[in-house]
Amino acid sequence: MSLTSMAELLEAARCGGYAVGYFEAWDSYSLDAVLQAAEEENAPVILGFGCLLVDQTWLDHGGIEILGSIGRSAAARSTMPVALLLNECHTLPQALRGIEAGFNAVMLHTDDVAMVAELVEVAHRRGVSVEGEIGTLPNGGADGRVDASRASTTEPEAATAYLAAAGVDCLAVSFGNVHTLESAFAQVDLDRLAAIRACVDVPLVVHGGTGFPGEAVPEAIERGVAKFNVGTALKRAYLQGLREALAGGSPKASPHDLVGSHKIADLQAAAMKDVVAVVRELIRSYGGSGRA
Ligand code: 13P
Repeated sequence: MSLTSMAELLEAARCGGYAVGYFEAWDSYSLDAVLQAAEEENAPVILGFGCLLVDQTWLDHGGIEILGSIGRSAAARSTMPVALLLNECHTLPQALRGIEAGFNAVMLHTDDVAMVAELVEVAHRRGVSVEGEIGTLPNGGADGRVDASRASTTEPEAATAYLAAAGVDCLAVSFGNVHTLESAFAQVDLDRLAAIRACVDVPLVVHGGTGFPGEAVPEAIERGVAKFNVGTALKRAYLQGLREALAGGSPKASPHDLVGSHKIADLQAAAMKDVVAVVRELIRSYGGSGRA
């Protein structure tokens, strides 16, 4: 199936009362794991890669093109409706290169509205969706601690003004959700989310899906959230699976079978089973199963 527009996936989710997961991959194995989970759940999904925590020199010297190329071929193999997002680009040139590399959705990590509007103009001419962001999330850690020193919650009026100026297709908002939070759950302010919803009419996006409290998901969806971004939970599951695969393997096994073979002994492929399980569970919790 060819790529589906992210804006269309989110509009369908909004009408259907569910949310679509963006499950951030980091290589072809993790991308395949997300696709496999989507296929097993018969669910639409947003595939893609993030720029925020990746070495900028690598990204700027062909990394974006490599990611676009494996993302496009994975999407082409999929029988599910999928969009392909280049998430949290640091610079406008990165986002523009993402469009050239075949991503059909991009996000620029900036509060420079004029720059986002410039991106929207180019992207929309090419049928590419753009995600905007207003407000800054706190950062969490593996120990459950939260650093909110540079965080700011989304002000509903500011969201209205941002949308009018930037013209993005969906909007990431900050209402207590926390990036990269593990071993704890964020304290989210659903009243603030409702107040934002009352002021904007594009689908809302939650970053920090790993630490987002499961019991708040249905209400968040009711209050306009159509997309959850998840990253840390997938890498955590992968590392756990990899440790188990390494501990369980025979020391005499061939390195060619263990590394990159895609055979039964492939350590990375074994580790991805845990990633598939996590993604499937999240798709179900967002109400996305059977929506393809
Ligand atoms: P988590 O790593 O906290 O799940 O957040 C991912 C994210 O928001 C990517 O944009």
